[in-house]
Amino acid sequence: MSPPTKIAPSLLAADFSCLAEEVAAIEDHADLLHIDVMDGHFVPNLAIGIPTIRSLRPTTKLAFDCHLMTTNPVAYLESFKDAGAGIVTVHIEAVPDPTGPAAEAHDLGLEFGLALSPGTPFGAVEPFLEGCQMLVVMSVEPGLGGQTFNEESLGTIEQARIFLDSHGVSADIQVDGGINVESAKRARAAGANVFVAGTSVFGSADPVAAIEALRVAIS
Ligand code: DX5
Ligand code: ZN
Repeated sequence: MSPPTKIAPSLLAADFSCLAEEVAAIEDHADLLHIDVMDGHFVPNLAIGIPTIRSLRPTTKLAFDCHLMTTNPVAYLESFKDAGAGIVTVHIEAVPDPTGPAAEAHDLGLEFGLALSPGTPFGAVEPFLEGCQMLVVMSVEPGLGGQTFNEESLGTIEQARIFLDSHGVSADIQVDGGINVESAKRARAAGANVFVAGTSVFGSADPVAAIEALRVAIS
C-alpha cells in the first residue's frame, strides 16, 4: 500500500529577498520544505547553503527536506543536521555506495534519501533502498527550476513502487521537477507519494491555492 501523500514546495522558486515570509505563507498547507543545495560542481549552478538553512530554521515548523546536488555531500552531513535539516538526500551519481553515509545520517538523527537523475538506471539505487527513508526520482535534470516534466521518470517511479512494495520497504517516492497539477496526477498514478513543486507553488500568484490544487490532483 502506498504511504501517505505529501507536498514539498521547493524554496528555489521563492523570493529570496523575503524567504521567511514566503515560507510562513505556505507553512500550514505544505508537508515539507524542499531545499535545493547546489555546489556549482555536481550541477553547474550554485544555490542555497548552510547559513540560509540555519537562518530559516527558527522561522518555521516545517521539516527541511534538503536535496544535496553536491559532489561531496558526505563531508557536510553533520553541518546540515546542526543547521536544522530533517531529511538529507544525496545523489547516487555522487555517492555510488551510500551504505556508510546512510548509517552516518541515521546516527546523527537524520532521515536519509537517495536521488536518481534522469538517465541513471533504477538498478543503481536498488541495493540501497532498504536503508533509506526516501527515493527521489528526478523528473528534470538536476540544477535548475522551471523545467518541463520528463515523462521518462514515470517508468522509473513505477519500477521503484513495484520494488518497494514487493520487498516490504516503506520508503517514500518523491518526484522532483516540473510538477504541476497534470504531471502530479501522472506521477501519483505511477506510484509517487511525495511531490516537490517549485515554480507551480512559489511562482504562482496564490501559492496556497496552488498547493491545494495539487492536493486535489494527487488525492
Ligand atoms: C531541480 C531541483 C528542483 C526544483 C524544482 O534541480 O531539484 O527541486 O526546485 O523546481 P520546479 O518545480 O520549478 O521544476
Ligand atoms: Zn530538488
